[in-house]
Amino acid sequence: YFLWLLNGNPFLLSEINFGAQGEYTGLAAIKAYLSAKGERHRSVCLIPKSAHGTNPASAQMAGMKIQPVEVDKNGSIDIAHLKAMVDKHKENLAAIMITYPSTNGVFEEAISDVCDLIHKHGGQVYLDGANMNAQVGLCRPGDYGSDVSHLNLHKTFCIPHGGGGPGMGPIGVKKHLAPYLPSHPVIELHLDRDACPLGTVSAAPWGSSAILPISWAYIKMMGGKGLKHASEIAILNANYMAKRLEKHYKVLFRGARGYVAHEFILDTRPFKKTANIEAVDVAKRLQDYGFHAPTMSWPVAGTLMIEPTESEDKAELDRFCDAMISIRQEIAEIEEGRMDSRINPLKMSPHTLTCIVSSSWDRPYSREVAAFPLPFVKPDSKFWPTIARIDDIYGDQHLVCTCPPMEVYESPFSEQKRASS
Ligand SMILES: *Cc1c(COP(=O)(O)O)cnc(C)c1O
Ligand SMILES: *[C@@H]1O[C@H](CO)[C@@H](O)[C@H](O)[C@H]1NC(C)=O
Repeated sequence: YFLWLLNGNPFLLSEINFGAQGEYTGLAAIKAYLSAKGERHRSVCLIPKSAHGTNPASAQMAGMKIQPVEVDKNGSIDIAHLKAMVDKHKENLAAIMITYPSTNGVFEEAISDVCDLIHKHGGQVYLDGANMNAQVGLCRPGDYGSDVSHLNLHKTFCIPHGGGGPGMGPIGVKKHLAPYLPSHPVIELHLDRDACPLGTVSAAPWGSSAILPISWAYIKMMGGKGLKHASEIAILNANYMAKRLEKHYKVLFRGARGYVAHEFILDTRPFKKTANIEAVDVAKRLQDYGFHAPTMSWPVAGTLMIEPTESEDKAELDRFCDAMISIRQEIAEIEEGRMDSRINPLKMSPHTLTCIVSSSWDRPYSREVAAFPLPFVKPDSKFWPTIARIDDIYGDQHLVCTCPPMEVYESPFSEQKRASS
């Protein structure tokens, strides 16, 4: 499957430990390739505003100059602005970094045209493969124009990455970039006679290789048909949820035919005015219903991005939608003045066991509403939040050092020395 990613003699390198490292390596390979062609001056990297934060960070690390490209009101790349930017920078254009389907949850209709435009002006296409969950078995980045892409094995290919790691972000490149892939001083990574590798990217030659059997086993067990089915179900699940929730929330972006990709954004921004409710209140309240909140304030501040994937069954998707719909009704109660705008189940969430069992309860809603807001939230299966609402801003501004002071590391010998001096 990895070989299938990019058509035309793909080369895949597993030295990379995570997506952003793949991005860095891919861009460095592009730079090395351009330099070898005598086009060292090409250093501009176009990045749509919908990009993941790692994209500009990687481009910066690779020594490129970042130029943002606007996104239209449907969430896709603003083609007119892209054309203007390409025209402005065509002499120095090195690359574009695009995510497909975009982080706004739409399949960019013009993806092939975008890639063609960049190639026509001497640039290369880095296609961020983090959203392969919507593509595996259905389409290949190499076909619509990618020169280099990474796969986030810890996203699309099942490596668990709770707590931030470890991950794997191997890249695939088209043949012309293969000679410029990294090398390693200990292990010969590729033997191409024309190779002029860009150097070493990660300390271990095969990255976190011990976790690769997880992706291998997943691919073997799913088979070609199963992997394609997983992509289809991921897209279907997102569209099913978007359809159920659209009567209650605004779905921020959709494709031209009214569908989303494998994820979608719910706009919670209007509730700030109507009910003093923000995305964080919805996110915290979801804990009372037994759910971990979806991605908050990204890629659009003040919104929630929902990516169900193929993993959950319909009953679970429905439970989540029921919780979101119930929360919308709680917001409506505030909007209609039937519930206090400061002391309400959303603002006071999440509700811990300690809070629910305390003998004093003076809130304008019941303990039952607080802890068991829908019939499916039952005492025997309830996930109790362990901590009530914390003050995020206070926390961000008052860092607590948990590292012991240096004196702890002082040896008895150095103490003696200090005492005698
Ligand atoms: C997760 C993600 C990345 C970065 O991957 P890491 O493994 O977290 O470095 C890049 N782009 C997109 C669109 C992503 O979702
Ligand atoms: C956005 O989508 C709508 C509905 O599909 C379409 O009519 C409109 O032309 C699109 N706008 C842009 C800028 O692509």
